[in-house]
Amino acid sequence: MSQLSVTSFYNNSKIVQRLILWIRENAINSKSTAITSGAALAVTLLVLTKLWRRRSDKDTPTPFIGIPTPKGCRPIVGHLLTIGPDRIQKFHEWHKEFGPIFHIKLGVNNTLVVADPYITHDLLVTNGKHTSNRPAGIFMHDFGSGGLGGIASLQSNDDMWRTVRRIIDNSLDPHKIRNEFSPVLHKEAEEYVDLVATGENIDPLPHLLRVSLNFTLIITFGVRTTSIDDPVYKKAIYCITKNMSFSDFKHVGGMFIPTLKLFDPILGVRKDVNDHMEKHCIPFYLEQVEKALSNDGYNLTKVLNDELNEGKKTGPYHILLPTINDVVVAGTDTTAVTITWAFLQISTMPEVQKKIQGEIDIFVKKNGRVPYFWERGETPYMIAVQRECFRMRPTTEFGISHAASQDFEWNGNYIPEGTWIMPNNMEAHLNPAKYPEPEKFIPERFLENYETMTASANGGAKERDQFNFGWGRYVDTKIK
Ligand code: HEM
Repeated sequence: MSQLSVTSFYNNSKIVQRLILWIRENAINSKSTAITSGAALAVTLLVLTKLWRRRSDKDTPTPFIGIPTPKGCRPIVGHLLTIGPDRIQKFHEWHKEFGPIFHIKLGVNNTLVVADPYITHDLLVTNGKHTSNRPAGIFMHDFGSGGLGGIASLQSNDDMWRTVRRIIDNSLDPHKIRNEFSPVLHKEAEEYVDLVATGENIDPLPHLLRVSLNFTLIITFGVRTTSIDDPVYKKAIYCITKNMSFSDFKHVGGMFIPTLKLFDPILGVRKDVNDHMEKHCIPFYLEQVEKALSNDGYNLTKVLNDELNEGKKTGPYHILLPTINDVVVAGTDTTAVTITWAFLQISTMPEVQKKIQGEIDIFVKKNGRVPYFWERGETPYMIAVQRECFRMRPTTEFGISHAASQDFEWNGNYIPEGTWIMPNNMEAHLNPAKYPEPEKFIPERFLENYETMTASANGGAKERDQFNFGWGRYVDTKIK
């Protein structure tokens, strides 16, 4: 962006010089010097900002000019109040009225909401070098590491992000999962089935949370929990749930309306988070880190610690704790919620269940055991059902927003730095051009596709089955 030089503006503006003169005179002559000069200074700053903005606006192209903006944008709050409590419905209405992409203001943040997967791909993948930042302030929990965030809050052009991302990608590589973790993960699945397949009515969520948690704990620290009464399970779920609760308006409102940050000390916003970190999360993670570092087997903590802290067994662990927290939070709730939704969907579809059972029975008869992850080609219908469940009920209905790292031009539109790009997965998954009869549950649409979800997540918008795992550089790590 061609920005007007502030210094040259101050030097050249006669209005400014007159104002400065006026302040000086008043400040010296008036008895109520402090009040007068304070008020004058405030007025000056206001005038200066307005003038400066107007001057710099002249040099700057108008942003979003070809992209529609719904009515109802108010000063300070933007469209926040107009959206109302049901943003899925409101965005659906706006897409109907304005098409696959529209511009809104979430507080002060310019945001593009995109429903069409081809447009999202173009913005977040093809133009990824301009759109691979995280919105500022997102996911920042203070682990006493000097304000360092973990992988989810690092920017993708940061060397640290590349290092951490490479290590996590390697740790979650399907080959590693197959060779080192598969037997353990199979035992987890078997234990889960024994617990819930009792013929009684059982809420599957707590047990699913434990299976998902065990997956992330085994990979991250080489430890597991033994039941939902296990203190490690209780503590971990408490930390995760509480961490996620910090995304409520009280804690993130300042990201949208910066003046709200003035009230943070009164509302105890940072204190809430810091207390939780100091009293619960840090001790919990430090305990797990100690176990992980003395563990003989492979685990993510060891590899991260070798690279980031030269393998030291004590110390601040710098970026290690926030990164571990991100992996545990990102992996546990998402997986459990996704499977719970899938169970809920097929619970009313006995025909679908029978077909899945039929496929598994054939495999078991032939091999004397249930199929492994890499044998999914033997159960194509079950894999297709999984994909259809993902499509119908996306766990991340609006993904995780990316932000423009610099001004750029897109299709003749000027998109300023900092613009948020929000993929509307809910709408993308109902795109009739990509999914004929999108409102219907039709697993057969995916029968030809049983490659891993990692492979499909890294394909083009046409090849991808669904968009739950995100886009571009940040697309979820290689786990599926
Ligand atoms: C069904 C389960 C899951 C869903 C739906 C899901 C979804 C997502 C999404 C939408 C993103 C953001 C991508 C973007 O910004 O465009 C993400 C990032 C991430 N996920 Fe997952 N995830 C799941 C499971 C997991 C698991 C099991 C782990 C780890 C054990 C994990 C670790 C991560 C990490 C570390 C990131 C941050 C990547 C980065 O910032 O570079 N996720 N996930």
